[in-house]
Amino acid sequence: MQDPSIEIALIGAGTIGLSFAALHLTQNPNCTITIHDTRPDLQTYIQRHLPTYLPENANQEPYLARLSFANELPTAVKNAQIVQEQGPENLEFKVAIWAEIERHAREDALFWSSTSGIPASAQSREMQDPTRLLVVHPYNPPHIMPLLEVVPAPQQTAEAVVENTLEYWRELGRTPVVVKKECTGFVANRLAFALFREACSLVASGVVDVKELDEIVQASMGPRWTVAGPFKSYHAGGGEGGLTSFMEKIGGTVKNCWDASKEDVTANDVSVGGKWQEDVCKQADEAYGVVDTAERDMKTRKVLSAVADS
Ligand SMILES: NC(=O)c1ccc[n+]([C@@H]2O[C@H](COP(=O)([O-])OP(=O)(O)OC[C@H]3O[C@@H](n4cnc5c(N)ncnc54)[C@H](O)[C@@H]3O)[C@@H](O)[C@H]2O)c1
Ligand SMILES: *[C@@H]1O[C@H](CO)[C@@H](O)[C@H](O)[C@H]1NC(C)=O
Repeated sequence: MQDPSIEIALIGAGTIGLSFAALHLTQNPNCTITIHDTRPDLQTYIQRHLPTYLPENANQEPYLARLSFANELPTAVKNAQIVQEQGPENLEFKVAIWAEIERHAREDALFWSSTSGIPASAQSREMQDPTRLLVVHPYNPPHIMPLLEVVPAPQQTAEAVVENTLEYWRELGRTPVVVKKECTGFVANRLAFALFREACSLVASGVVDVKELDEIVQASMGPRWTVAGPFKSYHAGGGEGGLTSFMEKIGGTVKNCWDASKEDVTANDVSVGGKWQEDVCKQADEAYGVVDTAERDMKTRKVLSAVADS
């Protein structure tokens, strides 16, 4: 039988790196992890923060026993079958580190960048073999959120690299989705920030306040979207005629909303740094103070497990 053990090198262990470490350790009993991060207090930082990402009340020893540290990059990547990078979001950093990783890693190692926006085709600029690199963009926090946007560099990343990447994540029960073009923000953030722009615009117009807008989303699209995305939802909304029929019946309302949205966004100057921003941020501070992410994450896990069970 093939040895199922797999070694993973995590380069950068901040918010995203720790969350990925927890994900691999808890979902993949066959993995060992080596962390490389230039933070001087790395070990105390990890000892303090990683447990908050691991299942509560579980014995954490078996997880931590599969975790080690490497001060030097070559040592970290030398035996790894997967090298996953989540260092600073900075093109020069990523270009330099991939060229170095390539020099020291195994020839069959998969190379994944967690970047939110720097395409693989740009990061691989100084690699000997740019076919090896792709983006695996998580939706924060990845130890909870199932989505991974897999973004190969078109005409560059090898098909086998994409396939092996998808296979790994499917085996872990995650939801990897291939994004066919290296578009700005990929897909999840494009959608999220489109809704966010509209939310800011509606608050800036005085239609609702920050808290009321959140209530509206939490009590409608929020629960719906864990079960059916916008296309399936509106396809269902059209009855037997599906989305075609929905657009025939509701298309006028959709058009009015899209037109009004464009006008309001312009009228309220909803651009980043626009004059609306200070007031909306102040409202968020007053409504929520510092958000308890532990409670948020606990509830999100319950929602996901309810959806998975049904
Ligand atoms: N935070 C998010 O919501 C989010 C979501 C998706 C993707 N990302 C992407 O993940 C990456 C990391 O984001 P983050 O929020 O975890 O940042 P972060 O600042 O929390 O972590 C970055 C880590 O990289 C380390 N580092 C710096 N220089 C290094 C080097 N030369 N070698 C190794 N490690 C080094 C830092 O010490 C730090 O621990 C970015 O590319 C970001 O775009 C972030
Ligand atoms: C771990 O190894 C076992 C035994 O080979 C295998 O059945 C299982 O699918 C592996 N799990 C993962 C997540 O790779």
